[in-house]
Amino acid sequence: MKIVKAKDYNDLSRKAANIISAQIIMKPHCVLGLATGSTPIGTYKQLVEWYNKGDLDFSEVTTVNLDEYKGLNRDNDQSYYYFMNENLFSKVNIDRNRTFLPDGTEPDSQKACDAYNQIIHSVGGVDMQLLGLGHNGHIGFNEPGIAFEKETHCVKLTERTIKANMRFFVSENDVPKEAYTMGIKTIMSAHRILVVVSGADKAEAVKNAFFGPVTPAVPGSILQLHNDVTVVADEAALSLCEGLY
Ligand code: F6R
Repeated sequence: MKIVKAKDYNDLSRKAANIISAQIIMKPHCVLGLATGSTPIGTYKQLVEWYNKGDLDFSEVTTVNLDEYKGLNRDNDQSYYYFMNENLFSKVNIDRNRTFLPDGTEPDSQKACDAYNQIIHSVGGVDMQLLGLGHNGHIGFNEPGIAFEKETHCVKLTERTIKANMRFFVSENDVPKEAYTMGIKTIMSAHRILVVVSGADKAEAVKNAFFGPVTPAVPGSILQLHNDVTVVADEAALSLCEGLY
């Protein structure tokens, strides 16, 4: 595991975007695994900037996202498709037919997850998977206690997540209660993994995930067993790891 220390969020975003753009330049028809959440927004912004300058070409790139809420369609501004469209897809020359997320509109969970596993296999697997890290060490929607051997599956969101999401919806009934997510096995099958983490509030999670024991209690800790992981974190996120790397 390589730890790359960034000065701050901007530096982190530039460094992560550099690694992704190198991947695209070295293999223009690569498969990128993408993440939503607040941390990668700066990375996407930087990639868009380089695309606008003519330094990056997404025309042959395929993307598969980590996760999607069950029950939300692509036009819902809380869906992860909407997020990806806003932050990346609509801003670069990517072929929309090559951008994949789990189908949130498929009510049959088994069907949705099987179809997504099939997509990931049919594109030949993921060359580089981008990940954020949750405060409790989650990756994707794989929360503490999750079995490491799972592929794409449906998860029930915790009460805490549902409550936190309530502010984005008209009523509690509209808040998604479940999500489809790549499993740990799917994530670990990527050839390369790039994790972005920012802020002092993530320092404990960084220490536990990357320097603590490998345990389902901290899902991100499994990444210690992957042979090509780069963590780009800012000083604040690495503040509890002095002397450990
Ligand atoms: C996003 C995802 C989540 C986030 C994680 C960190 O697709 O699956 O695991 O990566 O919750 O989120 P932020 O970056 O908002 O701190």
